[in-house]
Amino acid sequence: MNELDSLAADAQTAFAQATTPAELENAKALFLGKSGRVTALMKGMAALSVEEKKSLGAAINVTKQSIETALTERRQALADAELQIQLKAEALDVSLPGRARGQGGLHPVSLTLERIEQIFASMGFDVADGPEIESDWHSFTSLNNPPNHPARSMQDTFYVDIKGDDGIPYNLRPHTSPMQVRFAHQHIKKHAEAVKVAAAAGLPEPGMPEVRVIAPGRTYRVDSDATHSPMFHQCEGLWLGENVSFKDLKVVFTSFCRTFFESDDLALRFRPSFFPFTEPSAEIDIQFQSGPLAGRWLEVAGSGQVHPNVVRNMGLDPEKYIGFAFGMGPDRLTMLRYGVNDLRLFFDGDVRFLSQFR
Ligand code: DAH
Repeated sequence: MNELDSLAADAQTAFAQATTPAELENAKALFLGKSGRVTALMKGMAALSVEEKKSLGAAINVTKQSIETALTERRQALADAELQIQLKAEALDVSLPGRARGQGGLHPVSLTLERIEQIFASMGFDVADGPEIESDWHSFTSLNNPPNHPARSMQDTFYVDIKGDDGIPYNLRPHTSPMQVRFAHQHIKKHAEAVKVAAAAGLPEPGMPEVRVIAPGRTYRVDSDATHSPMFHQCEGLWLGENVSFKDLKVVFTSFCRTFFESDDLALRFRPSFFPFTEPSAEIDIQFQSGPLAGRWLEVAGSGQVHPNVVRNMGLDPEKYIGFAFGMGPDRLTMLRYGVNDLRLFFDGDVRFLSQFR
């Protein structure tokens, strides 16, 4: 191998050993720099004859060009390698599934409330809404709950620091029953307006339509365990008119339960009970004939004929108007429908639980 060939081979080796652009530039200086080996050869030609200059010069140029080519290739190779490293570091795996925004859904108890509203609406019931911070009169007195009734005690009812006109603090309604009286008042007022409109138009006085209403909503009690939550839901029902009977309540509630649980194979039992605002009163129990709960009587609502004192507090004559009421627990219905055994799961806000009802 002549001197020029080994020079080119040395350059190749030096460039190949450089693993960074900076190392490569240092290696370049050894050959092509001001005091590099190629430059030294060129300088050495000064002392040669014209003939020698011609042949050696051409040979040196060829070597120089091959070294430059090798340098360019190595530069490119290092740049490519660096790019690969960078691409790897910033890797974007387009095959990964995207982080989709989770789809929301209604809370299981909301699903139940919607379902209750739909079923009762289909039977001609209005849906009413009322305040959760309620007066003592509406929560208790108007409902024939005597002043010394244990339901009024602080162990059962939450009170707020605002007093009503009667000097008694407002409460967080412990049931939706106050909606019976509130709605009856609204109903009577609306009817009075209709009477006025009819009179002004010279039309005969319209009779008062029946009250058929449900009032779902949040209720509060000082109570907390696997089947009780300080905040829970109730749905009140009231059917009031001149010709309503317990039979109507039974028919309506039975068909509600059968529709709600999608089963005609559902037995109902009206078990005598006591509530201050109804007389007579009954607990409503249901019994599934098949499935995991088959055979057990499960309490789902309280009910009864509205007490004459309550009808009077509505502003109506108990001799003329008779009403039937019920109060049920949508949380309980949700637990039964979906087979949930701990009420607290509904209010923990754990998405892993809630997303199962979407
Ligand atoms: N308010 C009762 C409760 O919270 C439930 C109830 C029972 C409502 C009988 C009624 C009724 O309307 O007639 O336990």
